[in-house]
Amino acid sequence: MSNYHIKNLEEYFQVYRKSVREPANFWEEVAEEHFTWRQRWDNVVSWDFSKPEVKWFENAKLNITENCIDRFLFNDGDRTAIIWEPNDPSENAKHISYSELHKMVNKFANVLKENGIEKGDRVCIYLPMIPELAAAMLACARIGAVHSVVFAGFSSKALATRTNDADCKMMITADGSFRGNKTIDLKGIADKALEECPGVETVLVAKRIEADIEMKEGRDKWLQPLLDEASDECIPEIMDAEDPLFILYTSGSTGKPKGMLHTTAGYMVYTAYTFKNIFQYRQNDVYWCTADIGWITGHSYILYGPLANGATTVMFEGVPSYPDAGRFWEIVEKHKINQFYTAPTAIRSLAKTSSDFVEKYDLSSLKVLGTVGEPINEEAWHWYNDHIGKKRCPIVDTWWQTETGGIMISPIPFATPTKPTYATLPLPGVQPALMDENGNEIKGNQVEGRLCIKHPWPGMARSVWRNHQRYKDTYFATFENMYFTGDGALRDDTGYYRITGRVDDVIIVSGHNLGTAPIEDAINEHPAVAESAVVGFPHEVKGNALYGFVILKETGESRNKENLRKEINQQISEKVGPIAKPEKIQFVSGLPKTRSGKIMRRILRKIASKNTENLGDTSTLLNPEVVDEIIENSL
Ligand code: WTA
Repeated sequence: MSNYHIKNLEEYFQVYRKSVREPANFWEEVAEEHFTWRQRWDNVVSWDFSKPEVKWFENAKLNITENCIDRFLFNDGDRTAIIWEPNDPSENAKHISYSELHKMVNKFANVLKENGIEKGDRVCIYLPMIPELAAAMLACARIGAVHSVVFAGFSSKALATRTNDADCKMMITADGSFRGNKTIDLKGIADKALEECPGVETVLVAKRIEADIEMKEGRDKWLQPLLDEASDECIPEIMDAEDPLFILYTSGSTGKPKGMLHTTAGYMVYTAYTFKNIFQYRQNDVYWCTADIGWITGHSYILYGPLANGATTVMFEGVPSYPDAGRFWEIVEKHKINQFYTAPTAIRSLAKTSSDFVEKYDLSSLKVLGTVGEPINEEAWHWYNDHIGKKRCPIVDTWWQTETGGIMISPIPFATPTKPTYATLPLPGVQPALMDENGNEIKGNQVEGRLCIKHPWPGMARSVWRNHQRYKDTYFATFENMYFTGDGALRDDTGYYRITGRVDDVIIVSGHNLGTAPIEDAINEHPAVAESAVVGFPHEVKGNALYGFVILKETGESRNKENLRKEINQQISEKVGPIAKPEKIQFVSGLPKTRSGKIMRRILRKIASKNTENLGDTSTLLNPEVVDEIIENSL
């Protein structure tokens, strides 16, 4: 039996119990099983959640790129590390082997050094989904520089804030990017941001769209000629286990974004271990995560987790709707994808389109399907299961956060069962707890509470960049001696977890605690509904009342709206209870979403409570224009 690779339910329980009984021994065995350590640790874990301070594999020495690349060169240098699929299907895909990746990363690392980057310096990476993005991150890790990737859909304002907060010395960007049938002037956006970033000395520019851009003398350099000239040998910097690996910003419910700081050894062990188990990756499989590397999902499950297992990982430059809604499935057929990992929002939007887009393609290579990022509603789960997995692929509903570094609660395919809308069981090594409002742990099953984690795990963020107090206040101050996730969850009668949504989405109506996800599920099950969001607004009698924003499918648009409202209310009464019926239901053409596809409930809450003067910054939304429409038609 191996702690590192769990194959059946009995093993799961055995390993799980051990991980709770003897966490240090459990993780030590995981860390011993793979990986190249330059020096062994003195101590597996030490922690104090009151400070908070957490250290894993203390005094161990390593380089993560040695583990993600060099380790495979001797026997498997020709194995494909990255399959890059371009935006335009008529352009050729690229297959980059482990030895080619090694050369690319070494050259890039030497370019960084020649341009003054040293261990500990921060480098801002603002690139589209092109191979240079992966190489840039790994090149930083090779020399001990700290990467801060900013999603290439963010505005110049957002880019400047993040670049300055991390005090980046260098920015790596491109002449532009392709997104469906559009091109985006990335360099223009970067230039605008850089006006406000005096700390950035050098800008390296990758060529992607051959745009005629301005290069600022003394600051901007084309990347390719530098790579061509650089040596392809770069000895990896030996890093301490707790040296910073990267910063990644995540938006808080208030204030400026938080730069979550992840460190080297724990993150590596955790992403490698979770990837192996949750996707049941076997050698020669082809794995595809559709996220953008600009989010944590891409960091952990396009790049580090797969490469640390010697996997073949797909990097897709484009969007699911281009050239048509069959693109994902076309790619699955083309590269014979075995594991496919995406977001519920993508599933819902593709489920709305004609089934011809799916049926045209051979999806028989698929073995495991995954989702991440938000609760998946029952209807979307079944569509995914029926149409994509053809009822033969387990769906891993993976719950985790930027802060957790890797997946925390999820089924393990072929080992533990799945249940629609449930993330199910904690991975061995993860100790969840549900807490009540008075700070007491809620034991037993068939209970609901705030989701916390009792014991540290190697992948957890260690701090908020240069703001340790905020780290403490946000995650460790609500409940004593616990990491607080900010999410609510329930545990069913068999002990499976279902994430009910952010706790700030919990609405108390007439004294009843309602999570928004189950109400939205009920609404979404109506055949005329495409998507919905429910928020609370102040109500004289009930304390709070519910306001539903509903997007209709084409088939619903011509229907009588009053009848639809009645039917939706009926459905909610049946599925959740009459208490959960919204006071108001507004039909909308879209919902305000973040670039990663999350509904911005904060904005909807303000509209619902007729408090639209101060909506905050809406410029980072995917679809800011929809906000005006919703305000205009609000009830
Ligand atoms: C939500 C993404 C339900 C949750 C990896 C969490 C989920 C936040 C799930 C983190 C899931 C993520 N089921 N909710 N399977 N996965 N969430 O930092 O509210 O972008 O706290 O990390 O997404 O979002 P983040």
